[in-house]
Amino acid sequence: MTTVLITGANRGLGLEFVRQYAKDGARVLACARVPGQAQKLLDLAAASAGRITVHPLDVASDASVSHLKDEIGALPLDILLNNAGVYGGDHQSAGDLDFAAWTQTLNINTLGPVRVLQAFRPNLVEGQGKKAIAITSGMGSTARHDGHALIYRSSKAALNNVMRGLALALKGDGLIVVPIHPGWVQTDMGGANASLTPEQAIASIRTVITGLKPADSGRYVNYDGSEIPW
Ligand SMILES: NC(=O)c1ccc[n+]([C@@H]2O[C@H](COP(=O)([O-])OP(=O)(O)OC[C@H]3O[C@@H](n4cnc5c(N)ncnc54)[C@H](OP(=O)(O)O)[C@@H]3O)[C@@H](O)[C@H]2O)c1
Repeated sequence: MTTVLITGANRGLGLEFVRQYAKDGARVLACARVPGQAQKLLDLAAASAGRITVHPLDVASDASVSHLKDEIGALPLDILLNNAGVYGGDHQSAGDLDFAAWTQTLNINTLGPVRVLQAFRPNLVEGQGKKAIAITSGMGSTARHDGHALIYRSSKAALNNVMRGLALALKGDGLIVVPIHPGWVQTDMGGANASLTPEQAIASIRTVITGLKPADSGRYVNYDGSEIPW
């Protein structure tokens, strides 16, 4: 049975990852900042015959990550889905930058996935899948920068860079480390006008994840499996 750990699992893409992996028979460790407020996730878990368990996790907090590591111990993981992320607020343009929001965004979007991957690296090494996925954004592409959304773009560009570095650094562990852009998706972050439903985006990303090979480690990948320019 495939075991998957998902961050930011209470809504949006994370919740859809939980739904689809559990439907496929996977064991899902679904993490939410505030499980008590994650009613949709709790409902899914209650109907899952134990396949979904819900765990508190704030990816911005060393203590929270360490607490979860203590809770799950040496349980082997096949797929780590670093999905949790924030946009970074409304003050992201030249001349109107909220530096406190930028610091917080980097802590969640860039340091968060690394914090989680570092903690659960031994669990991934013990698993069969060995896949460490970071949900990034096409907006992290430096080649495609348009001069806007400086905070969000920089946080995802840095995430891509560090995932590329970890892909190389963790090759010896056999880990496949891949940042994946989910497409523009109808969630709280993507908005109602986005081109993809969560169902469509996650079905496509899951196909990509299933097909990942060691040679793909360190690629910057779109939800359809194509490569994105750095
Ligand atoms: N939707 C799109 O079009 C799109 C496009 C490109 C990339 N992405 C990326 O896809 C990922 C998921 O986004 P989404 O569209 O599903 O956004 P969303 O609907 O806004 O959901 C964001 C999720 O991240 C969680 N989160 C935020 N800060 C956290 C923290 N410190 N610790 C743990 N969880 C935290 C949220 O939990 P709370 O409910 O507790 O806040 C929520 O579960 C993000 O990394 C985002 O950057 C989305």
